[in-house]
Amino acid sequence: MKVSRRGVFQGGVLAASGAVMGDPLQAWAQLEGSPRIQTGGAHPVRSIQDTETPAQNNERMKWFREARFGMFIHWGLYAIPAGRWNGQLVPGIGEWIMNAASIPVAEYKALAPKFNPTRFSAAQIVGLAKSAGMKYIVITSKHHDGFAMFDSKADPFNIVQATPFKRDPLKELADECGNQGIKLGFYYSQDQDWTAPGGAALTHGLQTLKIEEHKPPTYHWDRAQDGSFPEYLHKKAIPQIREILANFGEFPAILWFDTPTKDMTPELAGEIVAILNEHPKLIWNNRLGGSYSGDTETPEQYIPPRGFPGRDWESCMTMNDTWGYKQDDTNFKSTETLLRNLIDIASKGGNYLLNIGPMATGEVPSPEVERLQEMGKWLAVNGEAIYATQPTLFGGEAGAFSTVEKDKSGNPKFVPSWKWRSTTAPDKIYIHLFEWPGTMFHLDKIPRTVTGAHLLADKAKTPLKITKQGAGLDVELPAQAPDQIATVLVMTTG
Ligand code: GLC
Repeated sequence: MKVSRRGVFQGGVLAASGAVMGDPLQAWAQLEGSPRIQTGGAHPVRSIQDTETPAQNNERMKWFREARFGMFIHWGLYAIPAGRWNGQLVPGIGEWIMNAASIPVAEYKALAPKFNPTRFSAAQIVGLAKSAGMKYIVITSKHHDGFAMFDSKADPFNIVQATPFKRDPLKELADECGNQGIKLGFYYSQDQDWTAPGGAALTHGLQTLKIEEHKPPTYHWDRAQDGSFPEYLHKKAIPQIREILANFGEFPAILWFDTPTKDMTPELAGEIVAILNEHPKLIWNNRLGGSYSGDTETPEQYIPPRGFPGRDWESCMTMNDTWGYKQDDTNFKSTETLLRNLIDIASKGGNYLLNIGPMATGEVPSPEVERLQEMGKWLAVNGEAIYATQPTLFGGEAGAFSTVEKDKSGNPKFVPSWKWRSTTAPDKIYIHLFEWPGTMFHLDKIPRTVTGAHLLADKAKTPLKITKQGAGLDVELPAQAPDQIATVLVMTTG
């Protein structure tokens, strides 16, 4: 049984993340086949990545590398229109509705008085992440629409000052994460801001209803958006970055930047880096811009064929086709696909940041709750084979690059195989069986001495018969797969 390709990405990545137009050189989301986000070059301000020793880096990144599985939360005013504007379905990802429907600033800001998510419960959301087996949460503190989901003194367009809700969900989540032992991180759209004068704007091209109104070089569609980018940065973004780094106790553990643009020069980025350097435990991604590579690669809506050897990385993905809530988007991936993605990612040494999009009421859509709880059941039994493990010692099991077919960028196409994956511990090799091989699992070559084997779900650890075959071995298995999604075979090694 082969996992459907849909599970990994939607009929071509562009569907979920939107085609890019404007400055093609300025890659702004790490999509499959897109040019790498420009990093390297001189750093006006040296970042922690430039100054720390490998030992210090290992210490700082330890919890992240062991976590493997996190919750991404896209939540904000865009949950109110939920993909429709003036009764019209708006194409593309939900959190981009202001841009895709060319909504004027004043009209979009008028959503704030209608935002009153009284059914929001930090305890429930953190509890859901925990029951799913997730170790950290990254929530949108401010997305491209410029609305802050926290109490900001720097700008009144925020959930405490501009809505009847008047509560600070980031504060409530920070307290709850502290209580439940979950790490909390913040997504912050440092470049794009469609409601602040001078904020940057990109475009999703064909997914924009009135693209002709989005004129280069700013791609603004309302004169109220015009202004100086450095001024926007100094008046709003940098003060807010200071606020989210200072006002939430031990959090954030992660800062998740997004869509760097050409406006973010190394000098301007350096000003932000100087603030980040004041938080030596902080982990931040590769999307700040201005030539800074940060700590993590962030492949979006896809899983890199071989991971990113030598780099920490995190594949972020939607459960359906949108990050922000859209009422008409019911194209949810199956739990089987989501779990096999997690296992595939862990086998390549990465993390899985899986998204939820709460509704305007504050509740999490039930298809997302169901899938997370089912993933949690599997991890409750098999978590040992995911958390704090190392990548596979094999590699070929994930698939191979075609010698004939080319991908969109003209490179050899990667053809994945979905029979099994492997993760590693100092004294164990875990084989995650997706396709049950029958009563015998065979390995041609094994790079360690195997001393025993059992199924992870078998609490009695009933020994399985192993037979050495030259450099490889055979492991005897029960006729039926104990778990249809993935059964973990543990091989103890000496
Ligand atoms: C893209 C989208 C943004 C989304 C992000 C998640 O950059 O523009 O809306 O939040 O991907 O990775």
